[in-house]
Amino acid sequence: MLEAMKQGQANAIITQTISEIERYAITHFQKEEFFFQRFNFQGSAEHIKEHQDFREKVSSFKAELRTGEVTLTIELLYFLKDWIDHHILDIDKQYSECFRQNGLK
Ligand SMILES: [Fe+2]
Repeated sequence: MLEAMKQGQANAIITQTISEIERYAITHFQKEEFFFQRFNFQGSAEHIKEHQDFREKVSSFKAELRTGEVTLTIELLYFLKDWIDHHILDIDKQYSECFRQNGLK
């Protein structure tokens, strides 16, 4: 995305990135939430709330993209960096022991 911004191609890349993020959210969140229920994971309510907030934020990015909001790319980069640092590298790790104990690798 940074390279695309430098070359003035941000909107094309951002549209593609948002589609990929939506696809990731649909498949990945569904799998996690399925196993939360199946294994009765204790932290599921807070975790599912983060997924929902993520979906809503992605929807608002899509709406901003349609209006040509210029700060969108930087905002999206920060949002994704925060998602990776906070959710994937921290929050998602919290269910790994529960999943492992239930036989999931
Ligand atoms: Fe998650």
